[in-house]
Amino acid sequence: ADLLIVTIDGPAGVGKSTMAKQLARHLSIPYLDTGAMFRSVAWKLGEGSWEWDEGRIQAELDTFEYALSGIGEDSVLSLNGTPIGNEIRTEEVGMWASNVATLPVVRSFLKKAQQDLGARFSLVAEGRDMGTVIFPDAPHKFFLDATVDERAHRRFKQLQAMNKPADLNELKEQIAKRDHQDRNRAVAPLKAADDATTIDTTDMNKEQVFVALKEGVACDT
Ligand code: C5P
Repeated sequence: ADLLIVTIDGPAGVGKSTMAKQLARHLSIPYLDTGAMFRSVAWKLGEGSWEWDEGRIQAELDTFEYALSGIGEDSVLSLNGTPIGNEIRTEEVGMWASNVATLPVVRSFLKKAQQDLGARFSLVAEGRDMGTVIFPDAPHKFFLDATVDERAHRRFKQLQAMNKPADLNELKEQIAKRDHQDRNRAVAPLKAADDATTIDTTDMNKEQVFVALKEGVACDT
């Protein structure tokens, strides 16, 4: 059967994962959280790893194998047989991830891992470069955006729900800093693909964003 790829890109805290899970459920396909892949690399390498030499990082990456199973919000991404857990879901690990995400050696390794998964599964793939670099031929591409204030608020509520302490003003600063680094890096910077549908979600609730995505996918097919 033909595989379907839907891409959702956008800045930190905009709600990509929530929407990707819901859309994937609607389409009965897995969702791929590529941010979790960068976060897991950062987590495994440890803080400061971006100062390592490329050869050492490459040797580490060569031992990494990702696997995907399940559908919609039940999708499970595993690294070397272990599901990636909530330990990577802090702004601190997000910043490490953004740091390692500037390294070409890490990007090219994960590019191949992501494209391999896309060759085997239909996917709602979310991240920063899904529509631009990883799946340029995807038939449906979305770019979600929102103000920094709104995104810090959403991330705050998300962290609270996971019982992780958070400070709203600190989050705002961290998110702004991470976005700046993600938008300005040399390789695969955060930006909308030319053929992506951009949705400013600042004044929309989850249901409204979901309807926009659902209708976007339906009317293109
Ligand atoms: O989406 P999430 O906040 O989990 O992503 C963590 C970091 O991983 C981002 O700030 C970004 O630097 C990096 N990333 C990336 N390309 C992707 C997904 C995430 O560079 N496709």
